[in-house]
Amino acid sequence: MFPGLRRNKKQAQKPSPGVPEEPQFGVSSEGEQVPEAASAAELAALEQSLPAAIDTSKPLLTVTGVERSFPVGGQQLHVLKGIDMSLYPLQLVMLKGRSGSGKTTLLNLIGGLDQPNRGEIRFKEHLFHQCGDDERTYIRRKEIGFIFQSFALMPLLSAWENVELSLRMAGVPRAQWKPRVTHCLELVGLVRRMHHRPFELSGGEQQRVAIAKAIAHKPSLLLADEPTAELDSQMGAQVMNVFRDIIRTERMTICMTTHDPTIMEVADRVFEMVDGKFINA
Ligand SMILES: Nc1ncnc2c1ncn2[C@@H]1O[C@H](COP(=O)(O)OP(=O)(O)O)[C@@H](O)[C@H]1O
Ligand SMILES: [Mg+2]
Repeated sequence: MFPGLRRNKKQAQKPSPGVPEEPQFGVSSEGEQVPEAASAAELAALEQSLPAAIDTSKPLLTVTGVERSFPVGGQQLHVLKGIDMSLYPLQLVMLKGRSGSGKTTLLNLIGGLDQPNRGEIRFKEHLFHQCGDDERTYIRRKEIGFIFQSFALMPLLSAWENVELSLRMAGVPRAQWKPRVTHCLELVGLVRRMHHRPFELSGGEQQRVAIAKAIAHKPSLLLADEPTAELDSQMGAQVMNVFRDIIRTERMTICMTTHDPTIMEVADRVFEMVDGKFINA
């Protein structure tokens, strides 16, 4: 339904490591010019720092037999009842399912925000089900980016400062902040709005700032919980175009939840959750 939004499996599975990408200007239909572009040297340094080669045959994340329950009213509420899934590098993976089926609970586990009662979660070489809180927090800050339905931006900070904040949090050296923030805002097509604060931006623009913020520290995995739910279909399509650009140019894997069948059309893989289990895995 969205032109230019079809998935491209070949592209997703067969990156061309080492081939410099053209600079992406994300949502260029707005005709935005870049007032303060990073210098060629800064961009070259940025290219250098991107991961060179990724083995797409090995999973980035493996979930095996995962169960999660919560104590509610003196009883255990079984929310996840045995989940198995693998996420491969450079995939756009979607979790679908009714409200209350357990999607957010699973996303929190995958992102190291929570731990399973049973089962295993391996992210790269890390075993999340065995890691302590501090170790998971450290891995998360370095390797994982989060996007939420409600954007989760700092209200008093500008778009630029919001993106910069995640570089501070991840301990990225200060010298890299300017080129990286510029690059991320270009990627989401928002350089012209860099000085705006969240309340001065539309919902779609806020979500694109949130995306720039979530990818600034170059995570290998981007998790997005219903990122298009509060957007109209056109803004939702823009967000999905940005996701495709991110996979292609930043070499990330994206796992997101959605209710929207039109959005699902662009997924490489869809897992359908019903009552704490996948029905199509
Ligand atoms: N921390 C918690 N304590 C108790 N129940 C929870 C907790 N987190 C989630 N649940 C319950 O787990 C079920 C699944 O929630 P959730 O993962 O948010 O579903 P979805 O994202 O698919 O809408 C819901 O019934 C919810 O109330
Ligand atoms: Mg949810």
